[in-house]
Amino acid sequence: MTKTVAIVTGASQGIGRAAAMRLAQDFSALVLVARDRTKLEETAAAVRAGGSEALVIDLDLTEPTAAAMVVERTLSAFGRIDALLNIAGAVPALDVFQVTDEQWDVGLELKLHGARRLTIQAWGALRASKGSVVFMSGNAAVTPKTAAAAVGAINACIEALAKAFAERGIVDDVQINCVSPGASITGRRMALLERAATAKGISVEAAKQDFLGQAGIARFGTAEEIADLMAFVISPAAHWMTGTVLRLDGGEVRSV
Ligand SMILES: NC(=O)c1ccc[n+]([C@@H]2O[C@H](COP(=O)([O-])OP(=O)(O)OC[C@H]3O[C@@H](n4cnc5c(N)ncnc54)[C@H](OP(=O)(O)O)[C@@H]3O)[C@@H](O)[C@H]2O)c1
Repeated sequence: MTKTVAIVTGASQGIGRAAAMRLAQDFSALVLVARDRTKLEETAAAVRAGGSEALVIDLDLTEPTAAAMVVERTLSAFGRIDALLNIAGAVPALDVFQVTDEQWDVGLELKLHGARRLTIQAWGALRASKGSVVFMSGNAAVTPKTAAAAVGAINACIEALAKAFAERGIVDDVQINCVSPGASITGRRMALLERAATAKGISVEAAKQDFLGQAGIARFGTAEEIADLMAFVISPAAHWMTGTVLRLDGGEVRSV
C-alpha cells in the first residue's frame, strides 16, 4: 500500500491536534509540528492509537530555516507529502492603537510567513503527489475589529496568499484552500475569554454568554468540527474545490 503523508502544524494542541487525530483515519503517516515536544508526543500517541505513524518535529516556525527542516525530515522519513495543513497561529489579539510593531511582526512571522515558507518548501513534493494544502484563516478576516486588529488583517492576508498559491496550483495540480473557523473552544479561545472576563469583572461563563450574544450564535464550535471540515477538504471527494475559503462559524458572518 502507498503511504500517504500529511504535515500538520500547530499539532501540539487545539485545532491542530484535533486535525492530526482526525487525519490518522485517512493518512498512513502524520508529521506533527509545533514547539512543545511534550504536547506533540501526546498528540503522536493519539495518532498512533488511531492507526497512523507519527513523526514529531518540535521547532519554532518563525525561524526562517524551520520550513526547509520540516520538509527535509518529512521526506527523509516518508519520501512524500500528500497534504499540508498550515494551522499554527498565535496572532496577538490587541487593540489597533496598542499593538506594537514587534507584536505585529510575531503574528506575521508565524501565521503568514511560516505558512508561506512551508508551502513553498513542500511544493515540489505536493506537485509530485497531486497534493493538498489548507491555510487557516478566521472570521476576523471579514469582520475586523478595533480590539483585535492584527488578527483580522493577518487572516485577510492569509486568504489572499492562499488565492495566489491556488492560481499556480491549478497549473501544478496542487489543491489549495482556506478554512475559516468562527469562535471555537481551544486553549487560545479560552485565554481570550478569560481575559475578557477579567476586564469586565465577570465569570468566564458570563464572558462566554456575552460573546455568544454579541456574535449572535447559539454555541461555540469545537476543534473536532473544524478538523472534520479540513479532512473533507483534502479528501478525494473535494479535489476539484480549490482557491476557496470555507467558513464554519455557527452562522456568525451574516454577509453574502
Ligand atoms: N479557536 C478559534 O476560535 C479560532 C478561530 C479562528 C481561527 N483560529 C485559528 O486556528 C489556528 C489554531 O488555533 P487554536 O485555537 O487551536 O490555537 P491554540 O490552541 O493556541 O494552538 C496554536 C498552535 O500553534 C502552535 N504555535 C504557536 N506558536 C508557534 C511557533 N512559533 N512555531 C510553531 N508552532 C507554534 C502552538 O504550539 P506550541 O505552543 O507548542 O508551539 C499550537 O499548537 C490559529 O491559526 C488560529 O488563528 C482559531
